[in-house]
Amino acid sequence: MKYLVTGGAGFIGGNFVHYMVKTYPEDQFVVLDLLTYAGNLETLRPVEDSPNYRFVKGDIADREFVMQLCKEERFDVIVNFAAETHVDRCILNPGLFVRTNVMGTQVLLDAAKEYQARYHQVSTDEVYGDLPLDRPDLYFTEETPLHTSSPYSASKAGADLLVQAYHRTFGLPVTISRCSNNYGPYQFPEKLIPLMISRAAAGERLPVYGKGENVRDWLHVLDHCRAIDLIIRKGTPGEIYNVGGHNERTNLQVVKTILEALDKPEALIQYVADRPGHDRRYAIDPKKIERELGWKPLYTFESGIEETIRWYLDNEDWWKRILNGEYQSYFESMYGERLKTGETQKA
Ligand SMILES: NC(=O)c1ccc[n+]([C@@H]2O[C@H](COP(=O)([O-])OP(=O)(O)OC[C@H]3O[C@@H](n4cnc5c(N)ncnc54)[C@H](O)[C@@H]3O)[C@@H](O)[C@H]2O)c1
Repeated sequence: MKYLVTGGAGFIGGNFVHYMVKTYPEDQFVVLDLLTYAGNLETLRPVEDSPNYRFVKGDIADREFVMQLCKEERFDVIVNFAAETHVDRCILNPGLFVRTNVMGTQVLLDAAKEYQARYHQVSTDEVYGDLPLDRPDLYFTEETPLHTSSPYSASKAGADLLVQAYHRTFGLPVTISRCSNNYGPYQFPEKLIPLMISRAAAGERLPVYGKGENVRDWLHVLDHCRAIDLIIRKGTPGEIYNVGGHNERTNLQVVKTILEALDKPEALIQYVADRPGHDRRYAIDPKKIERELGWKPLYTFESGIEETIRWYLDNEDWWKRILNGEYQSYFESMYGERLKTGETQKA
């Protein structure tokens, strides 16, 4: 099998590539990533020398380029992780989110249709909107109506609808996974957990939106990667699968867990003005993927967060090079003039 993994230099895509390249040495994995501020080639260092991995720099919304790549490579599977993902940023520049998340997805769908690839869309539980804090009995199922709150979630929902439409209209074999908040190694330190770990480790203030009461349903990134692998191999074309591990925590609980693990005082917490349109609670009902595909998370939140904190402490270099901007020169130093957009690592 030959895979195109878009957005593979990001957090979840990078972890997916590590997992797949090692688990399936007989399969080929080509990563396509634009290396935006969120893309980091250093994340792919662990697989850099693997014979079944290759990196291509490029934009999923560049139709001509994507079509040419897919024509040459004839992928069996396209897995789309590439996206603009940070909700704070979509408030500043919604158009970029529509371009990458919606139009980029459409280009990939056209390529999958033209060159007969199986297509998997990595989506999010944020397409369902949010749940009230005082109704802990409510969960998102695959039948929950789409009800988005931010340009980010709206762009992801738009992409999901296109994916479903390509199945219905063109018979394209597609699947969609909608996952809750991920955490784990290699997450860009603008997101809650790595941000709080890096700031707490440095003894800096920890900014918490509002009163920190918003609830997120946390899943370790490797449990998400295993779910995507299972869906691609065993999922039913046309179906959506929710992925979550019943690990609901308020943001404040998460921040306090990190402070406690690092032996830092709660006085470091700084409450800041809430994000506009901030979703209150996300909670996934994962029964369908458990029942139909036999998926179960391997991590509890306790085991996962402990391992994750340890990883950030042991890999300070990785996130410090992001904070000081040095990570962006890794691409140049690795490939320099040899590798321009569209050329592959082995070129
Ligand atoms: N992080 C989460 O908690 C979470 C939860 C559920 C779903 N998701 C979804 O999973 C996917 C991956 O999320 P993540 O947290 O790893 O994101 P990320 O921001 O860490 O990585 C996104 C990657 O996409 C690349 N990219 C952006 N625009 C591109 C373009 N036009 N062409 C090619 N590459 C481009 C970036 O360079 C980066 O490497 C996203 O689709 C996101 O919506 C994330």
